[in-house]
Amino acid sequence: LRLFSGSANLQLSQEVARYLGMDLGPMIRKRFADGEIYVQIQESIRGCDVYLIQPSCQPVNDHLMELLIMIDACRRASARQITAVLPYYGYARADRKTAGRESITAKLVANLITQAGANRVLAMDLHAAQIQGYFDIPFDHVYGSPVLLDYLTSKALHDIVVVSPDVGGVARARAFAKKLNDAPLAIIDKRRQAHNVAEVLNVIGDVKGKTAVLVDDMIDTGGTITEGAKLLREEGASQVYACATHAVFSPPAIQRLSSGLFEEVIVTNTIPIPEGDHFPQLVTLSVA
Ligand code: R5P
Repeated sequence: LRLFSGSANLQLSQEVARYLGMDLGPMIRKRFADGEIYVQIQESIRGCDVYLIQPSCQPVNDHLMELLIMIDACRRASARQITAVLPYYGYARADRKTAGRESITAKLVANLITQAGANRVLAMDLHAAQIQGYFDIPFDHVYGSPVLLDYLTSKALHDIVVVSPDVGGVARARAFAKKLNDAPLAIIDKRRQAHNVAEVLNVIGDVKGKTAVLVDDMIDTGGTITEGAKLLREEGASQVYACATHAVFSPPAIQRLSSGLFEEVIVTNTIPIPEGDHFPQLVTLSVA
């Protein structure tokens, strides 16, 4: 078994390697003058089971391309099996056509990873579980929820209501609520008038006087979760916690999340958060 890391989240890869009691494999990664990416595996991997860790986080196109080049290098080096480990699977939100003449990028990325030569994929908290079916190779879908739930349980919060910030997240929130002693569930009715603009309309469920735990797969610009938190406060929630596996944190997420709406914003390290983006309410848990 050999483990290699792309450049997207070296710290997580190092933690995984430490957990497994092994070193990350040696690999050269560099850029040509024109920006093209060069990768060379620096040991024989002939006949090996190779795991390549690379979340497709920002800059997403570079990280995705680097992963494809790593897979191709391993295939041409006669690895026996290549597993692409994507702690965060980017381009996942376009998982169907919602208007004419759009691309389904979640499927396009699946095709690229497969055609580059991956034999297996392991990904965490896909935006939509059915993306597994976009692959014709074995797919392991794993979750950040055990880590998030352990942390929440350790806080011994009282009178919890688990809140899905949109209808699409109800199954995820329900599973969370079940694990939090069958806490009640509330759902926010969210609309999007434009890409990256979240408008919340209504809360379905009782949140008055309760500790609201908003659960999502990702926080990107922070619009969904902060608009949701504002509404929950208006509806009388006494405390609001935000929980998400993927801290995408595109601007102005940090500004929104640190505005005092949340007791805590709890995320995992599938995507690295630059030191300068840390704020007092942020809790980062490791999924290594
Ligand atoms: C949407 O369906 C996702 O689950 C997230 O709610 C969304 O992508 C978060 O984006 P933002 O933080 O930009 O509102």
